Amino acid sequence: MSQIDLLNIVHRPRRLRRTAALRNLVQENTLTVNDLVFPLFIMPGTNGVEEVASMPGSFRYTIDNAVRECQELWDLGIQAIDLFGIPEQKTEDGSEAYNDKGIIQEGIRAIKAKVPDMCIMTDVALDPFTPFGHDGLVKDGIILNDETVEVLCKMAVSHAEAGADFVSPSDMMDGRIGAIREALDDTGHSDVGILSYAAKYASSFYGPFRDALHSAPQFGDKTTYQMNPGNTDEAMKEIELDIIEGADIVMVKPGLAYLDIVHRTKERFDVPVAIYHVSGEYAMVKAAAARGWIDEERVMMESLLCMKRAGADIIFTYYAKEAAKKLR
Ligand code: PBG
Repeated sequence: MSQIDLLNIVHRPRRLRRTAALRNLVQENTLTVNDLVFPLFIMPGTNGVEEVASMPGSFRYTIDNAVRECQELWDLGIQAIDLFGIPEQKTEDGSEAYNDKGIIQEGIRAIKAKVPDMCIMTDVALDPFTPFGHDGLVKDGIILNDETVEVLCKMAVSHAEAGADFVSPSDMMDGRIGAIREALDDTGHSDVGILSYAAKYASSFYGPFRDALHSAPQFGDKTTYQMNPGNTDEAMKEIELDIIEGADIVMVKPGLAYLDIVHRTKERFDVPVAIYHVSGEYAMVKAAAARGWIDEERVMMESLLCMKRAGADIIFTYYAKEAAKKLR
């Protein structure tokens, strides 16, 4: 390019970036507190709080303290939680998952009594409820599909009876969305929605979560039911099936490493898309920040904004509170 050409540049995109006011005016995507869902871990007992070792700043709460935490979330503008529970006991048939007096069922009632407008979603999968740490029932080292779906239906119905607004099946068994939809409808819960973990990958980013819930698989891995990280067409198929079966919202999981899947989902389907900014992603930011290697707050806000840009409507994140404070 000659000197003359350079001086005659007509298009100068930097004009729109010159001041903060201009940058704000032309910003295409925005993160708001309405987009956030806080995953909440609850455990048996009273007046207890435990920090998760591999997730600094994240805690397991007994139900009484979880209620207080929900009040705090609500006051920050966070209007949705996803409940995960550590049961009183693990059994091979996973029956504690649908015990009307179980940890999740009691948790839902206690939270609804004090923070009635909070949208309560509940995790539906068996991993914390059996000694095997797998999302389904196990027989001879195999994760059973149809037998698991029957238990998941009972679990979802018991959450609905306790007052859940939405159930979130995260197990990746085939056919569970249709079966759960039918079970909810048959028991008078046609208003209870389903957020399906539709494209959930067999990811190593879940490590710290399994620490939080004491739910690490005791043999093998989850690759016979969760998806291969190398695939994207398969994600479209899983999502399409879940929508046909009755999912109201579909989720892609994990987050940052899977934004191409979020983007493809948003382009192709007309349902709200959720993303899960998972435990390992949170732990990595925390670890690097603790060493002074990155600016935690900026990395957090950038990560969440980029999930919006990729097409996510809803973001599940352990950073929900910090992000809500920053957004104020
Ligand atoms: C279990 C479940 C997992 C997560 C959500 N639900 C772990 C797994 O599938 O092994 C992961 C969440 C996270 O890592 O933050 N059904």
